[in-house]
Amino acid sequence: MSLADKDRIFTNLYGFQPWSVDAAIARGAWDNTKALLEIGADTIIDRVKASGLRGRGGAGFPTGMKWSFMPKEPRPDRPNFLVINADESEPGSCKDREIIRHDPHLLIEGALVAGFAMRARAAYIYIRGEYIREAETLFAAVAEAYDRGFIGKNACGSGYDFDVFVHRGAGAYICGEETAMLESLEGKKGQPRLKPPFPAGAGLYGCPTTVNNVESIAVAPTILRRGPEWFASFGAENNKGTKLFQISGHVERPCVVEEAMSIPFRELIEKHCGGIRGGWNNLLAVIPGGSSVPLVPAAQIIDCAMDFDGLKAVGSGLGTAAIIVMDKSTDIVRAISRLSYFYKHESCGQCTPCREGTGWMWRVMERMRTGDADISEIDTLYQVTKQVEGHTICALGDAAAWPIQGLIKHFRPEMERRIVERQGGGDLSPMQEAA
Ligand code: NAI
Ligand code: SF4
Repeated sequence: MSLADKDRIFTNLYGFQPWSVDAAIARGAWDNTKALLEIGADTIIDRVKASGLRGRGGAGFPTGMKWSFMPKEPRPDRPNFLVINADESEPGSCKDREIIRHDPHLLIEGALVAGFAMRARAAYIYIRGEYIREAETLFAAVAEAYDRGFIGKNACGSGYDFDVFVHRGAGAYICGEETAMLESLEGKKGQPRLKPPFPAGAGLYGCPTTVNNVESIAVAPTILRRGPEWFASFGAENNKGTKLFQISGHVERPCVVEEAMSIPFRELIEKHCGGIRGGWNNLLAVIPGGSSVPLVPAAQIIDCAMDFDGLKAVGSGLGTAAIIVMDKSTDIVRAISRLSYFYKHESCGQCTPCREGTGWMWRVMERMRTGDADISEIDTLYQVTKQVEGHTICALGDAAAWPIQGLIKHFRPEMERRIVERQGGGDLSPMQEAA
């Protein structure tokens, strides 16, 4: 089932109306927010649990469950905090940017509701350094919310005091990792911490903290207003709700669009993007969830449900639902090599498999790109990805390994072809001959 206009949460995604507080109120934001809070913190968490909302930052952890990890009676010297991850830096991802640009009050109202549910003293919105105009909008929108009494002392007349701080990053991808973000907020070098403890146990300044993605927070007030059953009526079991999809690459009309979770890939592309450039036969492969998930070849993606389980079944993941479409004009080895460079560049250097492995993988990938490698090195490269995957402090190591694994799994004949051609012919491997 695809989404009708009346069921969209993000009604100003393209900025046809102003982002200002008055325009946001006219669209339904800040509508008796006090009443939303009056149902009580535990009831809010129960309703978010019942909605089936899973984290929209990539990992898909159940949001209501995450909120329930926070202490119900915070100590005065150890307050609870909410940190909102607006550091969106995953190549292909650009949905949080659209929310902040065009509907920042959905996010600020969501921060109040989520913060109240978690008994948080304040929310910190950590926004990507490159989002300069978006940060300006966010600062201005937060000021508007203070002026109207929606946040600050006695927020919305609820008797609850809640501050919202906006903090700008400085351009490091790794600061999107939740514990690196906490380090950065504390004024330190942005390097991930070992988990556990998870932030709910020891987060910002050692206090209980929940880190949530912008989209996860921005949908919360609408879920409460329209009811968890309404949200859960979209998508498949375990994959509920509406979702922002970001489609870039070789489609006729790239876009960011809110759709029902689990929509089939073909329907999503036909309905919102005008199809694949050059037609469906011209589709080569898709990276469906931002650059950290393995690519999926055309034949496996076309009828795939765009959700956590559907994409897992084809060996990939929903991630942030940043869908990068590649047609047959794509140099697929070069594309993955370029991603390898990105991860090498963004590694914080803290752990050896990632620091050394990302550079190693990129250098071999470059030789794969030009064909200046030996065919046996494809297996060696694969083994290196396996040594990096799962052996690092944070998920950046996995993110660097998976795109290469996907390439080898699905496009090994293409890698072999380059090497053979570069070396002036010679025997083909059985796999390449079969291709
Ligand atoms: P994760 O699976 O380790 O954690 C997800 C969330 O659940 C975290 O907030 C974590 O604290 C919490 N959590 C997990 N297990 C828990 C437990 N036992 N107790 C309490 N809390 C628990 O994933 P991670 O490393 O936070 O995120 C990786 C994902 O981020 C990737 O899948 C990738 O798609 C995405 N990503 C998104 C980017 C973006 O620009 N939006 C950038 C880079 C990666
Ligand atoms: Fe840093 Fe990479 Fe280790 Fe993450 S995996 S902590 S980015 S070195």
